[in-house]
Amino acid sequence: MSRETALPPVESALHENILVLTLNNPPVNALSVEVRCALLAAIDSAADNPAVEALLLVGAERHFCGGADIREFGQTPQPPALPDVVKRIEDSAKPVVAAIQGVALGGGLEIALAAHYRVALSGARLGLPEVLLGLLPGAGGTQRLPRLIGAQAALELMLSGRQLNAEEALKLGLVDHVGEADQALIAGLAYSRQLLAKGGGVRRTRDAQALSEQETQRAAIEAARQQVAQKSRGLLSPQHIIQAVETALDHAFEDGLREERRLFLECLDSPQRTGLVHAFFAEREVLKAPETRAAMPRPLDQVGVVGGGTMGAGIAVAALDAGLLVTLIERDQPALARGCENIEKVYDALISKGRLSAAEKNATLERLSASTDYQTLDQADLVIEAVFEDMAAKQAVFAELDRVCKAGAVLASNTSYLDINLIADSLSRPSDVIGLHFFSPANIMKLLEIVVPDKVAPEVVATAFALAKKLRKVPVRAGVCDGFIGNRILAVYRQAADHMMEDGASPYQIDQALRDFGFPMGPFQVADLAGGDIGWATRQRKAATRDPRARYVQIADRLCERGWFGQKTGRGYYLYAQGPRSASQDPEVLAIIDTERARAGITPRVFSNPEILRRYMAAMINEGANVVHEGIALRPLDVDITFIHGYGFPRHRGGPLKYADQYGLPQVLADIREFAEEDPLFWTASPLLVQLVERGENFDSLNHSH
Ligand code: 3HC
Ligand code: NAI
Repeated sequence: MSRETALPPVESALHENILVLTLNNPPVNALSVEVRCALLAAIDSAADNPAVEALLLVGAERHFCGGADIREFGQTPQPPALPDVVKRIEDSAKPVVAAIQGVALGGGLEIALAAHYRVALSGARLGLPEVLLGLLPGAGGTQRLPRLIGAQAALELMLSGRQLNAEEALKLGLVDHVGEADQALIAGLAYSRQLLAKGGGVRRTRDAQALSEQETQRAAIEAARQQVAQKSRGLLSPQHIIQAVETALDHAFEDGLREERRLFLECLDSPQRTGLVHAFFAEREVLKAPETRAAMPRPLDQVGVVGGGTMGAGIAVAALDAGLLVTLIERDQPALARGCENIEKVYDALISKGRLSAAEKNATLERLSASTDYQTLDQADLVIEAVFEDMAAKQAVFAELDRVCKAGAVLASNTSYLDINLIADSLSRPSDVIGLHFFSPANIMKLLEIVVPDKVAPEVVATAFALAKKLRKVPVRAGVCDGFIGNRILAVYRQAADHMMEDGASPYQIDQALRDFGFPMGPFQVADLAGGDIGWATRQRKAATRDPRARYVQIADRLCERGWFGQKTGRGYYLYAQGPRSASQDPEVLAIIDTERARAGITPRVFSNPEILRRYMAAMINEGANVVHEGIALRPLDVDITFIHGYGFPRHRGGPLKYADQYGLPQVLADIREFAEEDPLFWTASPLLVQLVERGENFDSLNHSH
């Protein structure tokens, strides 16, 4: 982590008889080796200093401490280890108080747990998010927290990675006091003085008694074990967290610490930790597009949305939820009424689940206006078009926007595939035009592809990133091509799945193999959810330009011809006799597949699940490499984040290109060359993949080049 100040990593200052130790490693005071060394030395010297009667730990600037330095994971460990520093804090013979502002997360909270008293400022957030990085709290957290607040609450925190606010932490007994001061130093000094005045001495968390009632604790552990088996299938660190807490219940504190260390190191070495840490940093790197460094965003308060269908309504909800003023435009009154209904439905569903009050819904909808008159967009800072996927329809909408919108308004299209350069070129202000590709449901899905046409101004791109931040979306910068990053790659691995289906694997087996890998749904379940009609229309549109040499599997067309579009029609690849949740295998679909195989002259063969995965991933990785090679994605990590946040790629595998690095690029290339023996056109190795293998490099080597 870069050091931005000349101050020492831990600053010591005596305030009368209280020694204040300030963690100073901006921006989050992560516990790098320098901080650990300095903290240990400061604690030791306080022990020998008769002027010191108590110690106060605080963090410099906004935060107390964001935990271990994540950049050190996977590097050679440098002493002192954090557990040793934490132990020295708890062992102090003089009382130690931690005063928390901003966050105390992971190792940061573990330091606070080793302190003898904890004060949090109102607004502070406390948590043990290690599980989100494939880890467990490894500096005593799994042993101290259950002793302090009981197994159930401790497990809930450690398994979710959730952050508590100061008031919740007080209620749970995690902190002793919530301070109203606006600085941790002031609140902490006041608390420490009171403590000394009333003779409050050392009080060690390891001696806390919340685990004493064995039966309740054991029941909590069992309940957590069942929940993890269902919800975190295949993940290592949640299981290890439970095991560590069980050890806290059954064994002495020191033995528990040893077991925690063993489990922590196992997690640290796991590919899941590598994948999750990659995802953490990649999520921050995607924010750093060239334009966000070079230009300032334009103001962004009023948003227009044209089209109130599936996407437009979802986008409007996302913007309303972010506190923006929204104007919805539709082509006529009935469509406008339907659009407003689509928006209201989202809030009504929340009300019926008890997650929103009617008053809150009304307050939100006060920021919505609806019209069929484009003139009402004249004050909008940004307009997002979400009408039918048809170039002429979109260009007509944009011509209206060109006519009515104020100078400097950002004009965006939510198109999935169409050429945004063509839209831009049809206007008098092409530099204001950009693609904002949301994913369905747009108020829920985190991914936002920011599609950058040739003539767009840098500040328009910066404004799109600012919008993503307001909407709490994960933005990924993409270049213009058919399908941008995500849908372009999707089209290719979907074909690989279709080929396997025609060659002998059932759609159900393929879906199962991909669920086993960690996708929440397989590709045929996704097709049924999205609706087969959209893809069918696209295939018909592209039929004339399709390469006649390319293999074309017709099974999906056979289903669509029967009107089997998936969940919305009650059948697709699956049968939905009792509604969308009741998917069952359909013998008639299998019969159609058999007929198609015969028509294509294919003798079906058996596929193993590993082979299905190998082919599916090879197709995804190869097209991912093409997308990077052509500059459609800035770096491999942009492909990874696109797939994690838009396509259900299992986060613990780090995204398709991180997975490829772990699998080994020479092996990916060998797989592709093996498959190419049957179908050289489909399995043409990406030039980038070939180059990387020749140079002995991996995708990650390209992640640091922008
Ligand atoms: N180590 C190293 N770098 C860190 C870091 C950490 N623990 N936490 C944040 N950073 C870096 C980010 O990568 C980012 O770097 P960049 O500017 O170069 O991109 C910078 O600090 C600022 O981070 P954010 O953009 O995320 O800043 P926010 O203010 O939005 O959020 C935060 C701050 C809530 C602390 C958030 O960064 C966060 O959640 N950090 C991770 C916290 C965490 O998981 N801690 C547990 C670590 S594991 C551990 O402690 C193991 C222990 O049990 C032994
Ligand atoms: P939809 O058919 O649900 O909604 C389109 C809406 O646009 C309709 O309500 C229609 O009345 C309205 N409309 C049509 N012409 C109009 C005009 N001239 N002026 C104002 N309103 C007009 O379509 P959907 O699914 O919402 O898709 C919209 C766009 O979003 C398309 O470009 C699509 O490719 C894209 N998209 C769709 C995704 C999806 O999963 N459905 C995902 C991401 C992008």
